[in-house]
Amino acid sequence: MKTFQALLLEEKAGKPVASFRELPIDALPGGNVLVAVDWSSLNYKDALAVTGRGKIVRQYPMVPGIDLAGTVEESSSPAFRRGDQVIVTGCGLGEDVWGGYSQMARVNAEWVVPLPKSLSLKQAMAIGTAGFTAMLCVTALEDHGLKPGDGEVAVTGAAGGVGSVAVALLAKLGHEVAASTGRAETHDYLSSLGARRILDRQFFTAPAGKPLGSQRWAGAVDTVGGQTLASLIRSLCYGRSVAACGLAGGADLNTTVYPFILRGVNLLGINSSLCPYERRLRAWQRLACDLPLELLGSMTQTGGLRDIPRLSEEILAGRIRGRMVIDVNR
Ligand SMILES: NC(=O)c1ccc[n+]([C@@H]2O[C@H](COP(=O)([O-])OP(=O)(O)OC[C@H]3O[C@@H](n4cnc5c(N)ncnc54)[C@H](OP(=O)(O)O)[C@@H]3O)[C@@H](O)[C@H]2O)c1
Repeated sequence: MKTFQALLLEEKAGKPVASFRELPIDALPGGNVLVAVDWSSLNYKDALAVTGRGKIVRQYPMVPGIDLAGTVEESSSPAFRRGDQVIVTGCGLGEDVWGGYSQMARVNAEWVVPLPKSLSLKQAMAIGTAGFTAMLCVTALEDHGLKPGDGEVAVTGAAGGVGSVAVALLAKLGHEVAASTGRAETHDYLSSLGARRILDRQFFTAPAGKPLGSQRWAGAVDTVGGQTLASLIRSLCYGRSVAACGLAGGADLNTTVYPFILRGVNLLGINSSLCPYERRLRAWQRLACDLPLELLGSMTQTGGLRDIPRLSEEILAGRIRGRMVIDVNR
C-alpha cells in the first residue's frame, strides 16, 4: 500500500506532541482532490499550532501546516485534473483539516487555487499565507482610497513574513514605505525590499499622552497589534486606513473613539483563512504580477519537515527574517 511521511500532532496530557510518521494513504482524511505536496511554509500561526502555544488545532490527531503547494494526483472534481499544479492556503488546513506538513494531502476543490503561470511551486510557498495576507492588506487599503503619492505608508513587524512581502509590494506599487522593525540587523534588508525609511519598533510603543497624535500616515499595514496598532490609529491622516492582520506584539487594543469620529480613520480587519474564492484568485493573480519575484530569494530560507519544531521556536522568538519555505520531501 502507498505510504507518505508527515508531521503528526497528537494530544498527550493536554499538550500537542509532534512526531514524524509514515502513514498509509488510506489514513488521509479530507476532500475530493488528492495533492502530492512539494512545498509548504512556516507561518507564525503554524508555530503556535506546533508548539501548542496558541489554540489553533481544533481536533487531534492533526497534520499541521496552513499552506501547501503541489501536484494533483487524483480529483473527483471537474475543476482539477491529475498533473495540475495547485496552491492551498488557510481554509482550515492544519486547524481542522490535515495540512501541508505532509507529502500528501486531501483538500476540497473550492479551496484550490491553480498555480499562476509566472510562479513556481516553491515561489508560491515563499509567498504563502503571509504574502497572501500582505496582498489582502494592500488591496483593502487601495479599496479605501490609497494611491501612490499620497504619503508615507507604515508597515510594522516589517522584517517578518507578512511585513517583508507588504514592504516589497507597496514599494513596487510606488508607495513611500516606512518599515518598523525591532531588529537593527534587518535595516539593509528592508531597504533592499524598497523601504524608504526605517523606524525602530519602539517608535510605536512610546507612551501616548494624547488620544490624537500628529497626522503622519497615509496608510498602514499592521502585523503587531497592541500598542503599535493603537499608535497607528492615533496618527493616521484624515480619512486614512490601517489594515490590521496580526498580533505578534499583543492582542489587546486600547484606543479611543476620537481618531474615528474626529479624523474619520478606518480600521480594516483582514482574515486570510476565510477569504472568499474570487477574491483569493484575484489576490494570487496580483501577487504573480505585482510582487517583484527577484526579491523573493532574499526574503526566503528553506527547511525540511524535521526542522519544523526547531523553526517554530525561532519564529515565535522573532528570529526568522522574511519567509520560511518547507521542503516536505527533505
Ligand atoms: N489575519 C490573518 O489572516 C493573518 C495571516 C497571516 C499572519 N497573521 C498574523 O500576522 C502576524 C505576522 O505573521 P508572520 O507570519 O509574518 O510572522 P513573523 O514572520 O513571525 O513576523 C512577525 C514579526 O513581528 C515582529 N514582532 C515579533 N514580536 C514582536 C513584539 N513582541 N513586539 C513587536 N513586534 C514584534 C517581528 O518583526 P521585526 O523583527 O521586524 O520587529 C516579527 O518578525 C502574526 O500575528 C500572525 O498571526 C494574520
